[in-house]
Formats: sequence, structure tokens, C-alpha cells
Amino acid sequence: MTTFAQAADHDASIPTSAGPLGGLIAALRDADFRIAAAGSVAALMSDVRLDESCLAPYVHFATGRSTRTCLFRDARFELFVVCWPESLRSAIHDHGGSGSFVRVARGMLRIDDFALVEGGRRPGYADLAHTGTQRLGAGSVDALCAQGDIHQVGALTGEAVSLHVYAAPLDRCLIFDREQMTCRTSGTRDAEPAAR
Ligand SMILES: [Fe+2]
Repeated sequence: MTTFAQAADHDASIPTSAGPLGGLIAALRDADFRIAAAGSVAALMSDVRLDESCLAPYVHFATGRSTRTCLFRDARFELFVVCWPESLRSAIHDHGGSGSFVRVARGMLRIDDFALVEGGRRPGYADLAHTGTQRLGAGSVDALCAQGDIHQVGALTGEAVSLHVYAAPLDRCLIFDREQMTCRTSGTRDAEPAAR
């Protein structure tokens, strides 16, 4: 059963440079976020050695809703942790022109990918084709980098925790209703960690 809920934001202190998350932020500040370099950003996400102690300050579960904790944000990218209660899934959404990288930190995520058949570039008519389902365990990384990349993310079994990079930071996106064949503009906090 899936649940609809709005995400809650948490304030977080910036990780120290001594820890793995601080090291990741330092590396991301020097990263090339152009599409051609997406593999190197994914590698940074994959290589960071996450453990429960470094994640603990940013892991906040809430009943019936996802939570999102920002670790870092500047003009080029944002890094945040999402905690997914069991059975919660995001809406189907795009990432505009921003690159999106997700690293599973705990549990398993299910990611359904979609392609535009017609419409879907702006609010209104949108016809989507389901192109595949990924089941990602801890340590796995997935990326959306091209305009028109669309997905739906959620916990596969039990709770999950994931680490996300948006480059550039993304506050608005399109969310899609496949039954109505429409899409509309939404805040990313309603689309990414919220669920349906
Ligand atoms: Fe997403």
C-alpha cells in the first residue's frame, strides 16, 4: 500500500570536512556537473563511504511522510538526505534541466523510469511510457541528467535512506498523472519525497 504525504524539512549543520559527507561536499564543489561528466559525479556518490554514524545526524523518520534534510546548498548544487518510510513513493516527476543523482544509503529503493511519448514539457497534456524498473540496494547510484528524464522513486521493502544531489538546485518540477495524461508544476518537496 502506498501513502500520500507531504515531506518535512529539517535543518542540518554542514558536515565537517573530516567526515565522509564533508569530503563528498568538498569533492562536489570541484565537480563538473555538465552531462558529459555525469559519470564522474556518480562515481563520487558511489565511492563515499557512508556508515550509520555519519548519517545519523541527518536521518529523521516521520510517520506517514518522508523527510528531507539539506546538508549543503549553493548556486551549483544541493546535497540532501531523504528518509523513506515503508511503502512511500514519490509522484512521477521530472528534474527540469537539473542533473539528479541518488545513492541508496540504507534499505532498498524502487525506481521506475519513464519516457515522454508526447507533451510533458510544460503543464498540460502528457503521455508517458514506462521504460523500466530498477531495484537498488545500499551503495547503488542512479542518475537522471537529460531534459525529459522522468522517474518515480520509493522504498521497495521497509524503510530506506538515500542521499541526493541536484545540480543545479531544483525547487520546481513537473509531476505527472498517467491516468489523466497530464502534468503540472509542483515544488520538488511535494514531488520527490512526497508520495502517492
Ligand atoms: Fe527525482
